[in-house]
Amino acid sequence: MNPVRTLILAAAGNDAVRRVVATAPVSRDVVRRFVAGETTADAIDAAGRLIGDGLRVTLDHLGEDTTDHDTAERTVRAYLELLDQLHAVGLAADAEVSVKLSAVGLHLGETLALDNASRVCAAAEQAGTTVTLDMEDHTTTDATLRVLAELRRHWPSVGAVLQAYLRRTLDDVRDLADTRVRLCKGAYAEPPSVAYTDPHEVDLNYVRCANALLAGSGYPMFATHDPRLIEIVGERARWYGKSVEDFEFQLLHGVRPGEQRHLAAEGHVVRVYVPYGDQWYGYLMRRLAERPANVAFFLRSLVTR
Ligand code: FDA
Repeated sequence: MNPVRTLILAAAGNDAVRRVVATAPVSRDVVRRFVAGETTADAIDAAGRLIGDGLRVTLDHLGEDTTDHDTAERTVRAYLELLDQLHAVGLAADAEVSVKLSAVGLHLGETLALDNASRVCAAAEQAGTTVTLDMEDHTTTDATLRVLAELRRHWPSVGAVLQAYLRRTLDDVRDLADTRVRLCKGAYAEPPSVAYTDPHEVDLNYVRCANALLAGSGYPMFATHDPRLIEIVGERARWYGKSVEDFEFQLLHGVRPGEQRHLAAEGHVVRVYVPYGDQWYGYLMRRLAERPANVAFFLRSLVTR
């Protein structure tokens, strides 16, 4: 893995660095590029604007690695309020939610995470939409897939996320290819024993997994900003006889916004991942790690203030 990327992802787990970055006033400006705001109203506003531009959204209430019951409960309630509001303003048909199991209590126990995720799924159903379970670092993959399987017994449309950098993923894709699956490259610092570390190998595995998803009868969601992969997925989808309604592209809020609109204008279903909330530190660090230019942008804003 690129050493700058390794360093930034290490900082994502360092409490002292977190305190410095989170309290620097300048961080707010940088955060604003990637995060829609702090409140439910901010999230609804951002969703409304994107949906007005012909895009769909998946909303993520920021937070991860929750270690106490109160925080897990607050996270669940934030999702319930969000889903209620999405329904109230008539956006639920074009807006789903993304949930990290660690935010709703996975580290406090799988049963708690399942119970809490079930509450969010029930609220999503009531609102007229659904949920996708984000995928976190590889130590949580098995637990996340177990919780997913349980949730799908009641809510078959709950989405899974699989990460092309993990060596196991092609097998997981084959198991889940008849369901709703988001395929991404993967954003965590993973050891070579479980993950491809050469970006070229990750891309190759992304294409292998994309083919397996397109060969299945599920609904693949291709989460990438990589122009080459977007083109390959488009071509392979045509080869498999898929129509534009049979799959979607997904991109992150603030990343390649022009491409988001360009793909939608071509007739593709495009969903934008919109994070909101005040627990943005880990999310921001992963976005900085993905692109050295983002670090330069961050450092420049520190010195030009
Ligand atoms: P890559 O990183 O190679 O980037 C390709 C090009 O895209 C870059 O050259 C640049 O132009 C642009 N780009 C990419 N990232 C950028 C950034 N941060 N800022 C500016 N430009 C950027 N991961 C995970 O582990 N679990 C998950 O649940 C999810 N969920 C998820 C949902 C959605 C909708 C997306 C788009 C992504 C995720 N990810 C994720 C993150 C994913 O794993 C991956 O880290 C990023 O998407 C970056 O990888 P790309 O495929 O974009 O390629």
